[in-house]
Amino acid sequence: MLNYKTHIAEKIAALLTGADEQEIFKLLEYPPNPEMGDLSLPCFRLSKALKRPPQAIADGLSQNLKDDIIDRTDSVSGYLNIFLSRGRFAESVITRIRNEGAKYGSQEIGKGKTVVIDYSSPNIAKPFHVAHLRSTVIGNALYQIFSFLGYKCVGINHLGDWGTQFGKLIVSYRLWGSAEEVQQGTIDELLRLYVKFHEEAEKDPALEDEARAWFVKMEQGDEEALALWRWFVEISMAEFQKIYRLLGVQFDSYAGESFYNDKMEPVIQELKQKNLLEEDEGAWLIRLDQYGMAPALMLKKDGSSLYHTRDVTAAIYRKKTYHFDKAIYVTDYAQNLHFKQWFKVVDLMGYEWAGDLEHVAFGRVSIEGMSLSTRKGNVVKLEDLLYRAINKTREIIEAKNPNMENKDEVARQVGVGAVIFNDLSGNRIKDIDFSWEDALNFEGETGPYVQFTYARTCSVIRKAGGDERISLVNHDDIDASHLQNVEAVGVLKQLILFTERVEQAMQKLEPSIVTRYLIDLAQAFNRFYHGCHILVDDPALRSARLALVECVQITLQSGLRLIGLEAPEKI
Ligand code: ARG
Repeated sequence: MLNYKTHIAEKIAALLTGADEQEIFKLLEYPPNPEMGDLSLPCFRLSKALKRPPQAIADGLSQNLKDDIIDRTDSVSGYLNIFLSRGRFAESVITRIRNEGAKYGSQEIGKGKTVVIDYSSPNIAKPFHVAHLRSTVIGNALYQIFSFLGYKCVGINHLGDWGTQFGKLIVSYRLWGSAEEVQQGTIDELLRLYVKFHEEAEKDPALEDEARAWFVKMEQGDEEALALWRWFVEISMAEFQKIYRLLGVQFDSYAGESFYNDKMEPVIQELKQKNLLEEDEGAWLIRLDQYGMAPALMLKKDGSSLYHTRDVTAAIYRKKTYHFDKAIYVTDYAQNLHFKQWFKVVDLMGYEWAGDLEHVAFGRVSIEGMSLSTRKGNVVKLEDLLYRAINKTREIIEAKNPNMENKDEVARQVGVGAVIFNDLSGNRIKDIDFSWEDALNFEGETGPYVQFTYARTCSVIRKAGGDERISLVNHDDIDASHLQNVEAVGVLKQLILFTERVEQAMQKLEPSIVTRYLIDLAQAFNRFYHGCHILVDDPALRSARLALVECVQITLQSGLRLIGLEAPEKI
């Protein structure tokens, strides 16, 4: 039996004419209180479709639902409460996870389908800051989750490598910068120049016109302007790569905004042909009043393109190139209107795949109460943030476990993990205030806590004389009826939820569902670990408990990987 819930849904559907198995599966709940069973079916939700009173449905099922994994059923106020046979339940969970190993929790729902994920997408010549970190981390988790469910994923880093900001930077560089300073100071120097430009432009607005003029030069292919641009891009990219390496994140494509420079003209023509563009004082825009939105500006007066123009062009290009079934864009919610507008434009152009575009918005990030803004230079650089987390973790390790091998490596895995996990906890739409103390707390609901729990499973297995990577107990030696105490059942109930949680995370585009799940599983395991001695003398009990530890190890490892965390074996 693959999954007891599927199995029970199937059995129930067979007893109810007119009910659909999928529907039953969705309705089956895990009651919060063990007295209400291991699974519960709210029959009033079926009452309308089946044209029968809920109590009658529950009574009928209670009398007829028999199976060797069901111990008993109760019909209570319109609910059918199902109590599983402890031994059979334990066996089904343990067998399944041990057989499937690293594949446990994966599915083939996405087979033959492609998802394009646009994430991270920092702006060149500006530093990579915490909002980009959040996009990187959420996008990467979605990439892993969709892949785990059988989708082909294409990860795109839509670099902000074109636009007026380069005009500003060129002006600032020519006035206040030097080649040596940029070489030495790299991205920090670029930021200094960018901030300086804004300070000076407040006093002298003519600088803004100069910046626009330089950008127009870039668009017209002026060699001097382009050479500077290329140089700034190179410097920024080298910096971004350091961060991606630290995070362990990769992309399939780095086609940024500049990639679409020669692809926009045909799109503009198409918009004109379709009578969507309207001239307004020399600029070209698309009216969206009918849809309750401000117009989408497609071409400026000076003929230069905009963020909208590039996004529409990129979407058309991606559809042609990757034939996606879904295209996802991960940015903070400040861009909600931007995405709504241009999704509408694609729709108005008559592309039926406009409905496959989805904006995955997330909340703002502040650090210990401080908000971030690039223009004023008030940015917390992500690299500094990550190194601070690594160094703090290193201090904790030094204090707790000074003799540990490869301390640096573990400090990196745990420090970076803490930051990633923190960004993925809680619904993505919620604003986050990053707190050092909370993120690095080994006992709180944090990445280090889950990683530490994983290392604990490894340590138990090592103590039992095994190697973390190979299965310790022979399957025939496991008598799952030994896993009937409250703590063991608590772990089993969490383990079996993994598949569903991963699927929900994919459907809701919400990696925090996996993050939450990992905390729940880790907590259940720690209750088991503290409540039951695992390496007991009784060989049958020992094998059964070790098999459960292995299942937790497998599941924690997969779950951590899905959200982009590494799983060190020793902490
Ligand atoms: N570079 C943009 C920013 O930092 C994010 C780009 C998101 N992707 C997109 N296709 N618009 O705000």
